[in-house]
Amino acid sequence: MEFSKVEPAYISKDGCRLVWKGVDEDDQDVIVISGDELERLSELLSKESTGKVELEDQFSMIWVNTDTVQFRLKEHKMLEVETTVLRKKLLEYEKIPHEPKPIKIYPKEFFPSIIIDNEEENTLLNSILADKNKNIISESDFFRIIATRRSTRNFDMSRLVEQWKIDKILAAADTAPTAGNFQGFEVFYIKNKEIKKRLVEAANNQPYVNAPIVLVFCMDPSRVKINFPPEILAKFSLQDATLAAAYSQLAASSLGLSSIWIGMLDEEKVRQIINTTLRPSSILCIGYPHQKRLPKSRRKLKDLIHVIE
Ligand SMILES: Cc1cc2nc3c(=O)[nH]c(=O)nc-3n(C[C@H](O)[C@H](O)[C@H](O)COP(=O)(O)O)c2cc1C
Repeated sequence: MEFSKVEPAYISKDGCRLVWKGVDEDDQDVIVISGDELERLSELLSKESTGKVELEDQFSMIWVNTDTVQFRLKEHKMLEVETTVLRKKLLEYEKIPHEPKPIKIYPKEFFPSIIIDNEEENTLLNSILADKNKNIISESDFFRIIATRRSTRNFDMSRLVEQWKIDKILAAADTAPTAGNFQGFEVFYIKNKEIKKRLVEAANNQPYVNAPIVLVFCMDPSRVKINFPPEILAKFSLQDATLAAAYSQLAASSLGLSSIWIGMLDEEKVRQIINTTLRPSSILCIGYPHQKRLPKSRRKLKDLIHVIE
């Protein structure tokens, strides 16, 4: 991995993203640092001093030495850059004026979208609300979770996913918004090994579909009791199923797991394999990754957001 550039963080005008590139186009590591962390790092570099900057959460420490700056990350291989290179790029980056814009979000509240009348469902929703794991989905962690999520296609098949984590991932799907709150989707949780193997074939032979946790999200327009033409109800149920899968995917990331979203699938084959008349929209494959990787970069926020005043 070779250090490539400093770019703005997506979610805050503070801080930045430090990008390393590998040989493949897809292969890159990014470290997102906060405004405070950037300030401390820049101070050391501009004064040409050595020292360390402690990073919150999953990034543990930056060591600034005379020749190299080492990023010693928790659960990730160490990343390095020549001190002179980083000094030049960071100081250039800091010349660009950026207004500090603190992000404020409100405490997350979960309202079950269904009436709970049996104990088993109660357990699922309770698991997401449970106090003992509250710190995992805390307000302050939310942006870290979305900003550090990275897909994997290389699962550690020997590592079992804890049942309480699976419960939270399934329950998260049920917290997503749906058209008219009609919940126009269904989730098929595939435990059967043979069926997982057949899904690989139905998904264009993508081997990682045979993952520790496999969830098939299907559209169910018949649940959407709104008086609209069938094509609108189909669109709503596709959006419902997609959002639910996205919520589960984020829940998985917040629990230290990784996932891959599978959209390339033969709908008819998947239908037959899981024995349903519903249209599958995506397969979400989840597990512990062999190696935790840092998130991929995206286009610049100014290219993405079209402000209409
Ligand atoms: C709608 C959709 C369909 C996708 N289909 C596939 C797929 O069939 N196979 C695959 O390997 N990855 C698939 N992906 C995963 C993307 O390649 C991946 O999310 C993207 O490269 C961004 O990487 P990141 O998730 O690590 O940020 C899909 C993602 C989305 C959102």
